[in-house]
Amino acid sequence: MDYKKEIKRLKKELSVTIVAHYYQKDEVFEMADITGDSLELARKCQEDENRWIVFCGVGFMGQSVKVIAPEKRVLMPRIACCAMARMIDEDCFDESVAYMMQRGIQKEDILPITYINSDVSVKAKVGEMGGLVCTSSNAYKIIERALESNKKILFVPDRCLGQNFAISMGLRSCIIGEGECNPKENDIICYNGFCSVHQLFMPSDVAFFRQKYPGIKIAVHPECDPSVTALADFVGSTSQLITYVNSLDINQKVAVGTEYNLVHRMRKKNTYVLSSTKPECPTMNETTLEDLYKTLKSIEDNAPINEIEVDAHTREYAKLALDRMLAIK
Ligand code: 13P
Ligand code: SF4
Repeated sequence: MDYKKEIKRLKKELSVTIVAHYYQKDEVFEMADITGDSLELARKCQEDENRWIVFCGVGFMGQSVKVIAPEKRVLMPRIACCAMARMIDEDCFDESVAYMMQRGIQKEDILPITYINSDVSVKAKVGEMGGLVCTSSNAYKIIERALESNKKILFVPDRCLGQNFAISMGLRSCIIGEGECNPKENDIICYNGFCSVHQLFMPSDVAFFRQKYPGIKIAVHPECDPSVTALADFVGSTSQLITYVNSLDINQKVAVGTEYNLVHRMRKKNTYVLSSTKPECPTMNETTLEDLYKTLKSIEDNAPINEIEVDAHTREYAKLALDRMLAIK
């Protein structure tokens, strides 16, 4: 079957918007009406007029759309779970709060921030405690706002993002479970989660490219380890990385530390993947053209598949956390 042709036909016939994150395979990405980084996708989906959203990405992205725009029917060709989001659940979140309380911080003096790469149930816990969501593109602003509360920040689940922004803002941070992490002596207390894809980038990769191509620029995602971001010329979200690379003179070499599909799609000349191995996100890569076709066809057949549902209680509190983020421009 010619899936591309069928997908285009179904798109024309149905009131559906196809959404894809930059890490999707090229053939899936090319079918999308909306693309962007996590924050842009959430905002654009909220503003979109169509009732049906078919989201090619990872589970937390589809969940976020359902929470902020519950009137929409959100389907995912694959409900693939981001490896980092899988590292924390409600119990782990409660244990992190308890960890801080056991070390002398009152619950009401803790302000939790969850990276958008987390399950909706964790977002609900955060919302219930007065906390908010952040993404890689707005973490600086969100932390800045959180600091105004004079509370201790519990940052989940990405220890790298938490540490990277703490460093760039001149704040003290520690990681629960790594050495002595005393909440009284630190501003940001990080949960010990990470992205298995961005963990692949090493300081030795930066050294390799700098030696091979003197003058090369290094641009990385803030999910990379602080030992890597410290050596980079630019650190930013997926959209910010694209803008940065496009702003460079075409003769300027650049090595980019983020997922392979995105880097491969960037300008072809003088752009390198900052790794000796292929840093693909296995969960993002699960979605195929066939999955996308089947999902659209299920709408046409009045038998939608892989629909995202969020119960009312979870939605109410997760929405608080997401809305607090979206309100910060
Ligand atoms: P962005 O918000 O930068 O698109 O990042 C999403 C993500 O999962 C990166 O691994
Ligand atoms: Fe999750 Fe990492 Fe994949 Fe992003 S690249 S979706 S953080 S596993």
